[in-house]
Amino acid sequence: MYNGKKIILGLVIFVLFFTSPFLINIGKANEKPEVSLDTPVISQLDEKQCIESAEYMRANHMKLLNEWRDQAVREGQTVYISNSGKKYEISLENGCLECHSNQEQFCDSCHTYSEVEPYCWDCHNGAKGGLDK
Ligand code: HEC
Ligand code: HEC
Ligand code: HEC
Repeated sequence: MYNGKKIILGLVIFVLFFTSPFLINIGKANEKPEVSLDTPVISQLDEKQCIESAEYMRANHMKLLNEWRDQAVREGQTVYISNSGKKYEISLENGCLECHSNQEQFCDSCHTYSEVEPYCWDCHNGAKGGLDK
């Protein structure tokens, strides 16, 4: 059994070695930079809440924004009704960026960290306001 033990030890080391990069990364999947919520509009809110839960927004804001754009541009819809029944204007500038007016410290810092470059800003001026048409 001497060799058997060695083989098992070898296997254990092998498995640990090859899974360690994944083990080390457990819990990092949702890592993000500290994003600032310090804006005039947010500081005036009674409840410091986004249009949906923060977890939902972190995971789904890209999808939601795509839907918003289609609804606004194709269907002329201007009002979003959240899960909790609250109403918000469907708009990048007058919606998201009305609250998140610190676009650089909020959207941009997280996107830089995650190496995403939304092309929206090719046309939308974002927090600077207005839209290059
Ligand atoms: C009424 C003001 C308001 C509007 C409108 C709003 N947000 Fe938020 N948002 C907040 C607040 C407040 C938080 C922090 C919520 C919390 O921590 O529970 C937040 C959190 C978030 C987060 C999560 C940040 C984190 O902690 O990781 C994302 C992403 C986000 N918002 C994106 C958006 C996008 C995209 C839009 C437009 C589709 C939008 N928000 C519209 C107020 C708003
Ligand atoms: C907590 C971090 C975080 C914050 C804050 C955040 N984003 Fe994002 N955003 C991401 C990540 C990560 C992706 C890429 C997700 C993917 O590809 O699945 C993304 C993708 C997007 C996309 C799609 C881009 C593409 O090319 O697919 C848009 C549009 C977008 N974000 C808009 C916004 C806006 C507007 C704000 C601010 C109101 C914002 N995001 C705030 C992390 C964030
Ligand atoms: C080629 C230019 C262009 C690009 C790129 C672009 N948009 Fe737009 N967007 C427009 C125009 C034009 C309108 C219509 C504005 C109006 O009706 O006043 C619009 C309207 C919208 C609206 C509804 C109106 C509002 O005030 O916001 C949303 C939401 C929106 N876009 C989201 C996005 C998102 C999210 C992206 C990136 C994933 C994006 N757009 C990329 C040109 C663009």
